[in-house]
Amino acid sequence: MSSRPVPEYLLPDTHAVDETGKSQIGGVDLVNLADQFGTPLFVYDEVHLENRCKEAVEAWGKGNVAYATKAFLCKEMARLAINSGMNLDVSTFGELYLALKAGAHGSSIVLHGNNKSSEELGLAIENSVSKIVVDSFNELDRLEALARGRPGPIRVMVRVTPGVEAHTHEYVQTGQDNSKFGFGLSGGYAKTALEKISRSPRLDLVGIHVHIGSQIFSTNSFSLALSTIADFVRDLDIEEVCVGGGLGVGYVEGEFAPTIAQWADTIHQAAVEAEINPRVRLSAEPGRSIVAKAGVTLYRVGTIKDVSETKTFLSVDGGMSDNPRPVLYGSGYEAFLPRSFRAARDKVLDIVGKHCESGDFIIKGANLPGDVVVGDILATPVSGAYGYSMASNYNKVPRPAVVFVKAGEVKEVVRRETHDDLIRLDL
Ligand SMILES: Cc1ncc(COP(=O)(O)O)c(C=O)c1O
Repeated sequence: MSSRPVPEYLLPDTHAVDETGKSQIGGVDLVNLADQFGTPLFVYDEVHLENRCKEAVEAWGKGNVAYATKAFLCKEMARLAINSGMNLDVSTFGELYLALKAGAHGSSIVLHGNNKSSEELGLAIENSVSKIVVDSFNELDRLEALARGRPGPIRVMVRVTPGVEAHTHEYVQTGQDNSKFGFGLSGGYAKTALEKISRSPRLDLVGIHVHIGSQIFSTNSFSLALSTIADFVRDLDIEEVCVGGGLGVGYVEGEFAPTIAQWADTIHQAAVEAEINPRVRLSAEPGRSIVAKAGVTLYRVGTIKDVSETKTFLSVDGGMSDNPRPVLYGSGYEAFLPRSFRAARDKVLDIVGKHCESGDFIIKGANLPGDVVVGDILATPVSGAYGYSMASNYNKVPRPAVVFVKAGEVKEVVRRETHDDLIRLDL
């Protein structure tokens, strides 16, 4: 890590520094936001979200790109994605339920999941979702049964595991042969699934789906997945091949990812090279690349403790309950003090959370300005994906509020949990 200020490219599109050196997003001062809404606080740059959605729709074409809601979902996010021309990818009853409650129409929703319950399938069918991405033979049987007595066939895609190992953390690899997801290409499972669908008048094969993992920086991995399934899809009478999501984002200085447009270009080119029928639409489901950089988490510094001559712990008022990624994947982050964005970050310390685990860290060996004190507001950029959506109530800590900021205005889109919320399920 370096003592330089956090590079601007890791910040949301509208991040700016005012004449006193303080950070703003969407024209709103971050320290004031923390004072007004409390901490931890998830702050999203609405313009950044709109820009990434727009970029995705331009790159893939309207109707060919769904926002993967697992990365971050609340009603306002669902509405923003829909209003920006995206469809929505959901993978549980809860995500589907929220999307519908936010006003999304079934025709703009695609349902995923390796273990869909009959209730999940039922809700999806009742709301005529555009596609169900089938993941097991058992699911096919249940869909068959659920489709009986319905006016038309159910539109399905078959998720295929191409046997490609993406270069990413093993927990977020999904395209390898031994993945729990999809039907393997090798071993003939995918072929058998297609045969089963073709024998059913109640199931309509729309396309093939392949998702090889998440936080992938090399577009070659996607091209390889496409060329691997090319022979398999070439003779099929299908409308669509979906390459899933997975485009990586840079989290720390020096980490650069392809843009959404570059990702789409590479895949379109790979499809030509693999001689996939040009009539077949290529589609995608980005999650992280839409929301990660749009979001910044604000914490308040609670304690600063030297435990040896070389080790200092700085504790914040959140941690693994609002961002489990460092603990799950060893993910790196940067940190800065919004009160003095351009200050040299010449002090090295470990930023840890308030939970009862030694593994509850946000950044090991973080750089911060040397004058950091208890009470300061600290920000971690690139925390808009898989943070709030993976948040927990560990240690009975209420989940943070979420605000969207734009043109000097603040919209609270999810309120902070209260302590009464925490006991409302207890009988
Ligand atoms: C089927 C599917 N599509 C899309 C995504 C979104 O991936 P990402 O957020 O990495 O773009 C995921 C995430 O794992 C997924 O499982």
